[in-house]
Amino acid sequence: MTSSVDGKIASVSGDSRLSCMYDLRRLHSLRASCDAVMVGANTVIRDDPLLTVRYVEGRNPLRVIIDGSLRIPTTSRIITDKSAKTLIVTSTSAPASKVTELIRLGVEVICLPAEEGSKVKLTEALRILWKKGVKRLLVEGGGNLIWSLVSEGLIDEFRITLSPYIVGGARAVTPVEGNGFTSKETWLRLKLVNYMICECGNEIHAIYVPIK
Ligand SMILES: NC(=O)c1ccc[n+]([C@@H]2O[C@H](COP(=O)([O-])OP(=O)(O)OC[C@H]3O[C@@H](n4cnc5c(N)ncnc54)[C@H](OP(=O)(O)O)[C@@H]3O)[C@@H](O)[C@H]2O)c1
Repeated sequence: MTSSVDGKIASVSGDSRLSCMYDLRRLHSLRASCDAVMVGANTVIRDDPLLTVRYVEGRNPLRVIIDGSLRIPTTSRIITDKSAKTLIVTSTSAPASKVTELIRLGVEVICLPAEEGSKVKLTEALRILWKKGVKRLLVEGGGNLIWSLVSEGLIDEFRITLSPYIVGGARAVTPVEGNGFTSKETWLRLKLVNYMICECGNEIHAIYVPIK
């Protein structure tokens, strides 16, 4: 993810253009090295991303969207663009008519039993993806999806680019949303394994792994 120095990944109005061109190239080369790239429903609704590899040479990974109630519009670019495959993981609380419509539009839909309303059971989603050959998965965000993965102990690595902006706003999205951990004993401890000053000279890219 790319965060402002004050820890925001999008502004209150939803602007998330925090990356410089080098950061975008780094992201696209990471995408090309992965079997699939995953985002949550709100990221598709707010950013309408393509999630393809464009700024470097490389193949497009499978696009995986976690959308428990199928809120994403059928006009989203991850549906209309056919340069990569798209798989949507949803829950049984999603309208059956939308499932049918998405399949008609060429999207693969996996429907899992709903958890806490319309939440997708991520352990099950990852198990199915693994069976489909997704061994290396890049989760790009947003904050709610990352929180679910972090709180369920499902991340192997956390990469962040610190972008030279102050965005502010108590309701602006942060890299990890959700309820949060409480006391220090419960926080997820990380170890810094690598870092670099971005080629632009004004950003820091850091790679951490959880200390288990
Ligand atoms: N700067 C960056 O690098 C970067 C990268 C990515 C995104 N973003 C920003 O992040 C923002 C969106 O973040 P967000 O936190 O609001 O949303 P999000 O994580 O993209 O999507 C969250 C939604 O996914 C659905 N979902 C289903 N199962 C879930 C589960 N088990 N855990 C979590 N979510 C689940 C829920 O909707 P339902 O309840 O309807 O299923 C939930 O509201 C956008 O503004 C985008 O620009 C920034």
